[in-house]
Amino acid sequence: MILILVPNTRPESPEYKQLMAHLANFPGISTRVHTEVGAEQSLTEIYLIGNTKVLPIEDVSCLPCVDRVVRVSEEYRILGRHKNDDRPTYFEYNGVRFGQDTLNVFAGLCAVDTIEHVEMMMKSLREHGQVCTRMGAYKPRTSPYSFQGHGKTCLPYVFDIAGKYGIKVIAMEITHESHLEEIRNALYQTGNATGVMLQIGTRNTQNFELLKIVGRQQNFPVLIKRGFGITLDESLNAAEYLASEGNRKVIFGLRGMKTNMGDPHRNFVDFSHVPVVRRLTRMPVCIDPSHSVGTRASSPDGILEIMHVTAQGIIAGANMVLVDFHPAPSNALVDGPQALLIKELPQFLEDIQIAREAYEK
Ligand code: E4P
Ligand code: PEP
Repeated sequence: MILILVPNTRPESPEYKQLMAHLANFPGISTRVHTEVGAEQSLTEIYLIGNTKVLPIEDVSCLPCVDRVVRVSEEYRILGRHKNDDRPTYFEYNGVRFGQDTLNVFAGLCAVDTIEHVEMMMKSLREHGQVCTRMGAYKPRTSPYSFQGHGKTCLPYVFDIAGKYGIKVIAMEITHESHLEEIRNALYQTGNATGVMLQIGTRNTQNFELLKIVGRQQNFPVLIKRGFGITLDESLNAAEYLASEGNRKVIFGLRGMKTNMGDPHRNFVDFSHVPVVRRLTRMPVCIDPSHSVGTRASSPDGILEIMHVTAQGIIAGANMVLVDFHPAPSNALVDGPQALLIKELPQFLEDIQIAREAYEK
């Protein structure tokens, strides 16, 4: 059960103390308090943990400071959608809104390789009105001998160039808790103009200790990708780990599933699950057509299959598109075969716009 308190309830107020004293008297029930401080107001939610089935909603609704009460089911307690649940399905970060009602495009480099490529990418994004990008500094690779990313050494120039071109949010995968501190330091040293959305990749979806650590920080929102070989329920529970530790700014990413059936694509595209995730949870849903399709193959009508599936995901209601571009894909150090060319960016954005308008209609 979740008690949503009247906005701006202060923990030092006598009414709040009265409420907490009252809750402490419920036998076998513990509480967890979460406060979200926004620009205009602060919102506090109190989670009652234990056998709350015996508590009548009416008795709890009339306690001091309580605005409304949501009875949650066992599944995805914090991020899930429950009966009569009017909690928000969006959040704001660094001036950008992410929600089940918006669409954000994160086109960029799968892996940062050179300063020049970062600059070319961000310049082009700026020219086409984009304020978000993807930039990989820490790369999880199948082979220990493959390029693992430049790591912290590239962060200063990535954040500098992002600031120069007005990029507000960079999606960046981390694979270890130490990367958090490295990103924080580099952002601070470059003046914090840009923000970072931490990415938990498909290989780490069930790295529970990493999820707990990332969930405990609330500075950065998190994009968590579906595990490529586990059920949707297991992946949604992984997202719930982040929220249960305190971070509610979570986006769920679909990036295709591994099958053993000799698929023509790198992964089996699962964008038909976009509406399912939106129905089960309050998270915005991201699609990653690049890692799903994995090639620059085109249909007979000359349209890139990456574009086809992007449109399918958008028609299904996707809220974010994470997509690989590269100025010279044949020289890319990671995933070159699936990268779109920078000159293809305007067409890609235009097609996204058409698909989104169709979805809205
Ligand atoms: C990045 O995008 C991943 O690191 C990449 O898809 C890993 O794949 P590989 O190491 O098998 O090339
Ligand atoms: C990525 O987006 O760079 C990535 C590694 O994706 P995934 O975790 O989906 O393989």
